[in-house]
Amino acid sequence: MLKVERLSAGYGRTQVLRRLSFELAAEEVLGIVGLNGMGKTTLLKTLMGLLSTEGGRIELDGIAVERSPAHRRARLGIGYTPQGGQGFPDLTVRENLALAGMTPTKARIRPISEILSLFPRLEKLLDRRSSALSGGERQLLALARAVVPSPRLLLLDELTEGIQPSVTDEIAECLLSIRRTENTAMIIADQDLSFVASLAGRALVVQKGEIVAQRSPDELLGDAALQT
Ligand SMILES: Nc1ncnc2c1ncn2[C@@H]1O[C@H](COP(=O)(O)OP(=O)(O)OP(=O)(O)O)[C@@H](O)[C@H]1O
Ligand SMILES: [Mg+2]
Repeated sequence: MLKVERLSAGYGRTQVLRRLSFELAAEEVLGIVGLNGMGKTTLLKTLMGLLSTEGGRIELDGIAVERSPAHRRARLGIGYTPQGGQGFPDLTVRENLALAGMTPTKARIRPISEILSLFPRLEKLLDRRSSALSGGERQLLALARAVVPSPRLLLLDELTEGIQPSVTDEIAECLLSIRRTENTAMIIADQDLSFVASLAGRALVVQKGEIVAQRSPDELLGDAALQT
């Protein structure tokens, strides 16, 4: 569903992504792994359209989107959770979810009841401001917001950063239940290799803005070079 060809991007004169190419099959879950500063976030931002492409192509189901702004890519069905994303800290969980429902999309807006069945822990937190959530709860809210407009492709950046293992497991469970309901394709950039291995069929290793290897879930867990 996604074809990335010789993609280059960066910040001003700093080039980060260097002619990077890969493909994502329909309904595939792909991991992106690599040490700090290697370009994972830059890749996801460029795919979402939050950072402009300096060269190469991004095709979503045959449509070139590398020049499209982020809101158009959202309408085409790409959802994104930014690394360390907060949502709107002064709004409640309920308000944050309602705003996510205003994303223009060709797909269905999931009603709050459906979101709560995917994320049961948010039910008791609906009237809490998002600034008063724990780190793990905030990540669950970020994920919930991203799935409200029923994306076909979810880009997930470091969902497990700074999160204790039991909450990481809960996030993985939520992702699996999203998969069971809609088979959403996902690109999961994460430092937690066991999290990636539990969800993705394969992972690409990014080093200095290039894809240098591909790993199966088993290989990921044994890869000493990727341990931080
Ligand atoms: N806004 C920015 N301006 C300039 N350089 C940046 C900016 N954001 C990131 N970089 C640089 O781009 C490179 C890639 O950063 P990126 O955030 O994509 O890495 P990452 O793989 O996501 O790292 P982490 O595992 O720490 O999240 C790094 O050298 C970083 O310093
Ligand atoms: Mg990052």
